[in-house]
Amino acid sequence: MNGTLVSRVVRFYRREGLPALLRELCVRPYRRLVLDWHYVFVCEQVPEVPPPPMELELRHYRSAEALDAEVRRSVVGELGAHMGRALDEALAGGAELFVACVSEAVAALQFVRPGRAVDHWFVPLRPNDAVLFGGTTLPRFRRRGLVTWMIRHQTHYAMQGGGRAYADVKVWNTPAIRAVESAGFRRIARMRPLRSGS
Ligand SMILES: CC(C)(COP(=O)(O)OP(=O)(O)OC[C@H]1O[C@@H](n2cnc3c(N)ncnc32)[C@H](O)[C@@H]1OP(=O)(O)O)[C@@H](O)C(=O)NCCC(=O)NCCS
Repeated sequence: MNGTLVSRVVRFYRREGLPALLRELCVRPYRRLVLDWHYVFVCEQVPEVPPPPMELELRHYRSAEALDAEVRRSVVGELGAHMGRALDEALAGGAELFVACVSEAVAALQFVRPGRAVDHWFVPLRPNDAVLFGGTTLPRFRRRGLVTWMIRHQTHYAMQGGGRAYADVKVWNTPAIRAVESAGFRRIARMRPLRSGS
């Protein structure tokens, strides 16, 4: 560390305090070096769709207005208000939402967005490509193959227009990586998200 760097660190510490300094020195680099990285996956062959791993009703929504109030309530209640906002943003941005319900209870969600509705992504997309995102299984339904089946099903659906299906997963998210790979996707890159306008 040279003198200028040390004096900048000391000035920062005096101005912002120790927690902010630790965040700046440890958390931010850790986030940049590890947490922010994504694997990018592609699926080029329409996958087979086996029977679902449990008896479920699959619901399909194309707009926030069409979303059943009880589905929204259950998502917000079990996954938090941020998921309610994510639902609205995704549906307003041209995504479609699939919801798996088991005995009327929401069990899993998966979004899919056509390439034509994506401004910029990790790799260039054609209009008839599709991006799968936001796959989530509610905690009490996890580890039963539900999201793997949802990904297969939605990929099959999204590839009917002749394009490819893509997905991205944070590099540390082992369950999601395994689900995407089991559903027939192949890893093609390790990248950080593009910034808007880049
Ligand atoms: C990631 C997530 C969607 C997986 O859902 P799920 O329905 O439990 O997944 P599946 O049962 O289909 O399992 C997928 C794979 O992950 C494995 N897996 C599931 N949970 C795991 C865990 N906690 N640790 C390690 N592996 C796990 C399964 O064994 C399976 O691997 P396999 O095909 O090699 O046997 C779920 O954990 C979740 O909702 N997490 C929070 C949201 C999230 O991270 N979403 C991903 C966005 S890209």
